[in-house]
Amino acid sequence: MPTRPYVIDTMISAKSIAARIEELAREIKEEFQGTDKLVVVGLLRGSFVFIADLVRELDLPVEVDFLEASSYGDGTESSREVRILKDLRGEIGGRDVLLVEDIVDTGFTLKHVIGLLQSREPHRLKTIALLDKPSRREVDVKADWTGFEIPDEFVVGYGIDFAQRNRNLPHIGKVRFTEAEQA
Ligand code: PRP
Ligand code: MN
Ligand code: MG
Repeated sequence: MPTRPYVIDTMISAKSIAARIEELAREIKEEFQGTDKLVVVGLLRGSFVFIADLVRELDLPVEVDFLEASSYGDGTESSREVRILKDLRGEIGGRDVLLVEDIVDTGFTLKHVIGLLQSREPHRLKTIALLDKPSRREVDVKADWTGFEIPDEFVVGYGIDFAQRNRNLPHIGKVRFTEAEQA
């Protein structure tokens, strides 16, 4: 999908993200202390950078698995319909599970995936999201841990895309359009 020209202003630096992940990892280690194996589930694609940094801060026995869900596709508006494009490889019944998400916006994705994972009866399911936009919420859901609460800005980077672009930015930026919308 072509888009009008934009620039990206830094919102959260790579350094601030790293510091926050250290704090979050400490809390997660406390919560899951003594687990025989924690299954850390990344929600593709957006969480791929966050999960990579997070698991490297967790000195717990960890298994990494992925689930692919999509609600935005190439657009910028939630379809409110969450499609599972790729399921987990492993079983999670009776296991400790940490679901890792990059951002909670309307909440449809997180709510849907929590429901799906709960139906498989894990021993314990916890959720973490790097970013939360509470002002955009349409369904009642909140991650157990949140990295940063942010205002309603279009954010990109650190795994998050704008029409599939800018996922490789090392920090979180906000999109600023440099030309007015065509009439
Ligand atoms: C984005 C983001 C979250 C979800 C949040 O994923 O990564 O998963 O939307 O929005 P919601 O709270 O309104 O559901 P997207 O569907 O764009 O897929 P992607 O992770 O592959 O970019
Ligand atoms: Mn996503
Ligand atoms: Mg997306």
